[in-house]
Amino acid sequence: MIVGASRSPEPGGRTTGRGVVGLYVHLPFCASRCAYCTFATSTELDLLPRTMAASTREIAQMGRRGGRSLATLYLGGGTPSLVPPGELSKLFAELDRYFPRLPDAEVTLEANPDDVTVEKALAWAKLGVNRVSVGVQAFSDRVLAMLNRRHDAAQASNAVRALQETGLAVSVDLMLGLPRFADEDLRASLAELLRLRPGHVSVYLLEMDKPHELARLAQRCPDLFPDSDAAASQYLTAGRELVAAGYTHYEISNFALPGREARHNVRYWRRQPVLAAGLAAHGHSGRRRWANLDTLPAYLEAVEAGRAPLAWSRRLSDSEAARERVMLGLRLASGVADTEIAACGGLAPAFAERLADFLALGLARRSRERVRLTPRGWLVSNELFAGLW
Ligand SMILES: C[S@@+](CC[C@H](N)C(=O)[O-])C[C@H]1O[C@@H](n2cnc3c(N)ncnc32)[C@H](O)[C@@H]1O
Ligand code: SF4
Repeated sequence: MIVGASRSPEPGGRTTGRGVVGLYVHLPFCASRCAYCTFATSTELDLLPRTMAASTREIAQMGRRGGRSLATLYLGGGTPSLVPPGELSKLFAELDRYFPRLPDAEVTLEANPDDVTVEKALAWAKLGVNRVSVGVQAFSDRVLAMLNRRHDAAQASNAVRALQETGLAVSVDLMLGLPRFADEDLRASLAELLRLRPGHVSVYLLEMDKPHELARLAQRCPDLFPDSDAAASQYLTAGRELVAAGYTHYEISNFALPGREARHNVRYWRRQPVLAAGLAAHGHSGRRRWANLDTLPAYLEAVEAGRAPLAWSRRLSDSEAARERVMLGLRLASGVADTEIAACGGLAPAFAERLADFLALGLARRSRERVRLTPRGWLVSNELFAGLW
């Protein structure tokens, strides 16, 4: 369901309509910084209570401008699992006041394996969390140490099992293209993953376009990293094994057992409204796109002064909306209707040409009046999408 422009909530939550929405809340604290991470995070844990109070206040401010029912709630980070359950329950109390969850709402919390205990899992479930996304990255102690992770492979397996035993739906994040990640690491990671059989799996190729410690390491010691062909082969192998084990590859980086797709994330790709709270959080609704301030002092100052902590807000033009619809749609296995592709091709001739090449090379397929990318096509989809803008 896409809420049209006249029914859209404004940045910060103002609304004139009744449609349900998703809500993303960014909880930025981490115990330490991982070597590949470029997310908006902070290790100044003494600021955690003040920041939780600010985000709780921001939610109340948004809610007073017009609350909405939530189809999905996603607590991302940072490391939400680091936040004491008592702090989380204050946040949930304010959410319940202004953003009541639908009875079947998907409520996800991101967790690092070293934080997961049965007690914490039960406390999260009591708050209404029904899905936990665990950042495993790799089931290899050697690789995890290179990433500066705080857990080993055994802790990651134990965390997933503890969550499953508590009855929570589990998603596991794996990363590929990592330094010193040999074929045997891939085999071991996939074997352990399939033993655990979480309902949902995200597989990310290491992104190197933003500055982080591993990107600097790759400049100094490129031989530690798989080259692009080897990384591509890891992605295709992971995809084949997951599909053979009964998972659907429903989005570039995401795999699910039947009925276990990430409903919150699907809202982004289908352009259904998602409100946002917390440091650097991004929201969208109808044509409106906005983002919160991305430095903690500026964010805290704005919220504590009673202002919306907005960094920017803009409305997409017709042409931008058509391009975005195609780009996000092609991330999904369901693809995009021919009519939308044709409209976009008129706006962006370079995209039309590259898509023709993709179709000729078997990187995209046309059937039942839709265009879909194949897994090989997804691997090089940035080249296609670059033709859109
Ligand atoms: C918000 S982040 C981290 C959540 C949680 N704190 C954790 O560490 O598991 C979600 C996921 O993004 C992925 N990720 C982070 N940085 C990445 C990068 N540079 N390239 C590819 N994937 C990345 C990781 O798999 C990570 O688990
Ligand atoms: S990967 Fe997760 S735990 Fe590591 S720094 Fe980024 S958000 Fe924090």
